[in-house]
Amino acid sequence: MTDEALPANEAPSANEALSNLLHEDRRFPPPADLAASANVTAATYAEAEADLEAFWGEQAKRITWDTKPTEVLDWSNPPFAKWFADGTLNAAYNCLDRHVEAGNGDRVAYYFEGEPGDTRVITYAELTTDVKKAANALLELGVEAGDRVAIYLPMIPEAVVAILACARIGAPHTVVFGGFSADALASRIEDCGVEVVITADGGYRRGKPSGLKPAVDEALTKCPSVHHVLVIKRTGQDTPMTEGRDLWWDEFVGQQSAEHTAEAFPAEHPLYIMYTSGSTGKPKGILHTTGGYLVGVTYTQWATFDLKPETDIFWTAADIGWVTGHSYLVYGPLANGTTSVMYEGTPDTPHKGRWWEIIEKYRVSILYCAPTAIRTFMKWGADIPEQFDMSSLRVLGSVGEPINPEAYVWYRTNIGGDRVPVVDTWWQTETGMHMISPMPGVTSGKPGAAMTPVPGVSVDVVNDEAESVPNGSGGYLVITKPWPAMLRTLWGDDQRYVDTYWSRFPGLYFAGDGAKRDEDGDIWLLGRVDDVMNVSGHRMSTTEIESALVSHPKVAESAVVGASDATTGQAIVAFVILRADAGDGGPDVVAELRAHVAKEIGPIAKPRQIMVVEELPKTRSGKIMRRLLRDIAENRELGDVTTLTDSTVMNLIKENLSASA
Ligand code: WTA
Repeated sequence: MTDEALPANEAPSANEALSNLLHEDRRFPPPADLAASANVTAATYAEAEADLEAFWGEQAKRITWDTKPTEVLDWSNPPFAKWFADGTLNAAYNCLDRHVEAGNGDRVAYYFEGEPGDTRVITYAELTTDVKKAANALLELGVEAGDRVAIYLPMIPEAVVAILACARIGAPHTVVFGGFSADALASRIEDCGVEVVITADGGYRRGKPSGLKPAVDEALTKCPSVHHVLVIKRTGQDTPMTEGRDLWWDEFVGQQSAEHTAEAFPAEHPLYIMYTSGSTGKPKGILHTTGGYLVGVTYTQWATFDLKPETDIFWTAADIGWVTGHSYLVYGPLANGTTSVMYEGTPDTPHKGRWWEIIEKYRVSILYCAPTAIRTFMKWGADIPEQFDMSSLRVLGSVGEPINPEAYVWYRTNIGGDRVPVVDTWWQTETGMHMISPMPGVTSGKPGAAMTPVPGVSVDVVNDEAESVPNGSGGYLVITKPWPAMLRTLWGDDQRYVDTYWSRFPGLYFAGDGAKRDEDGDIWLLGRVDDVMNVSGHRMSTTEIESALVSHPKVAESAVVGASDATTGQAIVAFVILRADAGDGGPDVVAELRAHVAKEIGPIAKPRQIMVVEELPKTRSGKIMRRLLRDIAENRELGDVTTLTDSTVMNLIKENLSASA
């Protein structure tokens, strides 16, 4: 099937091919009213440019410090940064008490929407009381500043209470996504030596209660460091409790005093550890500290979303178990005094309009979600959101993976009523905060581009020799100057921190992403560097080809991998999900799609093989697991599937393919 791979000298250069696709003429300037009262203006960029440290020193004033820092950045021992090092503060005080003291205790912190339809409205005053009680409960269990606490919960308000209770007493939390297995939980608990676990009997998913506590029991058979487990009642399932170790949250926390004075900690006191699944090896424990992180997320939520805390209703539709949940569902929004929506469930329970119903109900003004969700909504059809009033929306955000131009335009048009700006935010668990993003009141958006660094952030696109590439070329994304919310190290492994991020290009933070600067100098993310293929000596991005496929009217979603090929080095293999109205696939559709890719990018980009599938294997954070698709494309035994949302997906794909072979 490689007959159409052209010899290198006849093929158009990959760069030329990429430029065709990246030649995107559509521009969406900021709406006039938004620009007129925007938080960030051209002057903000100039201010940051003029004196970076002074700029961050200014942003630090968003936070209430017990001892004001006199120093902004200490970079005397790179790559180990210290920010605001002689300042002291309490993160929970900044998220809670100070708003109550300022007379905003009645402001809603969260509108909680449970999957089964139960709702709660929680004010800043109520949240503050709940957190004080939970902090007292942890203290009674012997948790001290510096001790680690694991949080393994569904998306319920107690997850926020647990996080802030830890922050309040200076105990670094490690939130483990509720969909992870007992093994994954155990390895995280072991890695950072957790003493107390906060969990629930269960949570709701797709209309059914599912247990969580049994996974904790199983994990703890391997984790002697844990001496207590606090269990929140969510589903009311039968839950075995271990005498002397397990305590019901409502009883134990409920009886605690509602008085607790927050103690100030040094700015570099550890705030949390968040594990990310590296592509190889054991998960990395990303360490974030208190002062710089809080400044970074507070500033970026305000800047990127043009946040007006008194009037906006903000909804980050991400799980609290991921960094997006930490930075933009908990710390940033609360430090800014935002009213947020928190939704427990899946977008199609009990019906496919659930998100849009929530937006209509709470008059949500800012929505932040992942492209994978947007593409799912595209698949379901525009007639679903059309039935709801979403006129309250004024900024739409995207995060987690490159957003295909077609998905961007669909989002803007069908969710944003063709008037709301879309901000495509590039960042990582490691960066803690947004790094590259349009600013909604300044930037004329280009569909598919993350555009420019956030004011205060410095990035570059470099070649193998660490030289900045000219406009119109691709390379590696690097961050050239320290930023306040940067990871400080990997938990217990300084050397791996240095090796992973700072050794590829000495002095520069290597993000692991490919990027391209277009003719205007704007930045496009091209996917992880490990997802870049080399076909007949040409570097091709999986993202580019996925975008081309998704721009075909019959395609809802696609994943592209490079499979090793004797002739071309790597060959392109595409997996596609067709839209509901596209028929059942078959050879005609495949031929049509191959021709379409050839037309969009060039013959060199034509997939060797296109497989029509029902589902794609995704991690629980919604990322497509290309590694598994590569196994299929290369006829290998399947690798580790434990982090898949649904491990049966892989069997379905295999069966489906052998049936059609
Ligand atoms: C990818 C999620 C393109 C990227 C906040 C990065 C993106 C990894 C974008 C980090 C974006 C995130 N455009 N790619 N807007 N946002 N990524 O740690 O490959 O779960 O390195 O953090 O996601 O994923 P993480």
